[in-house]
Amino acid sequence: MGRKFYIKTFGCQMNEDDSERMRGIMLSMGYEEAEEPSSADIIIVNTCTVRAKSEHKALSFLGRVKKFKRKGALIGITGCVAQERKESLFTQLPYLDFIMGPPALSSFHKLMERIESGERKIILTERDGDAEFPYERTYTGKVKAYVTIMEGCNNFCSYCIVPFVRGREVSRKPDDIIKECEMHAEKGIKEVILLGQNVNSYGKELGVSLADLIKKISLIDGIKRIRFLTSHPKDLTDEIIRCFGEVEKLCEQIHLPAQSGSNRILRAMNRKYTREDYLKLIKKLRIVRPDIAITSDFIVGFPGETEEDFRETLSLVEEVKFDNFFSFKYSPRPKTSAEKLPDDVPPEEKARRIVLLQEIQKRITLEINSSLIGKIEEVLVEGMSKNTKKGKVVCQLFGRTRKNKIVNFSGDEKLIGNLINVRIKEALANDLIGEYN
Ligand code: 5AD
Ligand code: SF4
Repeated sequence: MGRKFYIKTFGCQMNEDDSERMRGIMLSMGYEEAEEPSSADIIIVNTCTVRAKSEHKALSFLGRVKKFKRKGALIGITGCVAQERKESLFTQLPYLDFIMGPPALSSFHKLMERIESGERKIILTERDGDAEFPYERTYTGKVKAYVTIMEGCNNFCSYCIVPFVRGREVSRKPDDIIKECEMHAEKGIKEVILLGQNVNSYGKELGVSLADLIKKISLIDGIKRIRFLTSHPKDLTDEIIRCFGEVEKLCEQIHLPAQSGSNRILRAMNRKYTREDYLKLIKKLRIVRPDIAITSDFIVGFPGETEEDFRETLSLVEEVKFDNFFSFKYSPRPKTSAEKLPDDVPPEEKARRIVLLQEIQKRITLEINSSLIGKIEEVLVEGMSKNTKKGKVVCQLFGRTRKNKIVNFSGDEKLIGNLINVRIKEALANDLIGEYN
């Protein structure tokens, strides 16, 4: 019987990629992946702390798996909660065997070796030199891959804990990224999603730009699609915008968090752009790629957000016509400068604002998605999905268009991993229904 591990991931795509690295390393060390935490010898909970709710979810999962300790399982916490709370977690959750924050991930190998030699109560929260991540990866059933190109953030938006847990911006060398993408291509990956907390400022310390990197990656034969996230509006250069017109493989899609439509709130958030700057970027993007899909993030109920400020957000949403966005109720986070401000928008008011914002967007998303009906869209088929139709479960294929919209359609399982043309038949708020023949 091999030793088994189980990794539970919360939070963003970078956390998913970090889990993927840990998974790869453990597999290469001879571990097997367990289907359930109950059958694992090592349970790793990779956590997120961006909002209080994300942290609670991770901690409550830990509470549920701690019983497996009795059967001899080791339990560790990784990710942003680990980095934020550090050794205090050993007091709060005495059953933990190790704590490892994101900057220390490059020494995951060493952590595992120390665990194997019987050491417990290990804590790692510092970067170990500029060690490159080992390249082990798992590929079963995968058609796209996340590629972390930089980590950390120098922006210090007043609400955001990320700079305190992911540290300052560090870019990976272009050659290492290219090597990783080439390796993905060899394994049949068709799409790469370049990740960073602030990808637009990629390579500043190295004298290269995100645009240079995108162009280099586009020369890799097997890679057919490139995306990147997350963009900060203040760093979205004309050079990057031009790539949407020049690089065929760069999908016409961008996630460009606005956070608010009110200049007063944007200033209080330390976002370093105005509503007018944001609208100018949208205009430029649409000149280069009129059909570009644009998504965003919004926070409602930031300290001091009045009804008038909130109306400015609603009007921005009406004006831009986003394909979709995520919206969050403001949540005070430790160490941030906004934490010192009174959290003065009452919870029921935050709830009212978020519902209103989402209702408006649902209508806009449906309008945009409906305009695709009858059109042929290129879809990268990702896998099987189970849908319930009139009480009956039907298995379907699903994939994403270049605009990153999910399409469900009937077809042969053999199509998974292929780029195919699908006719859009029906539009829903969260996905599309298509026809392939
Ligand atoms: N409260 C609410 N939402 C937040 N976000 C980041 N920090 C907070 C916070 N303190 C949101 C932002 C960001 C997304 C990842 O999470 O919208 O873009
Ligand atoms: Fe969560 Fe931010 Fe950490 Fe990602 S970087 S896991 S979103 S806190």
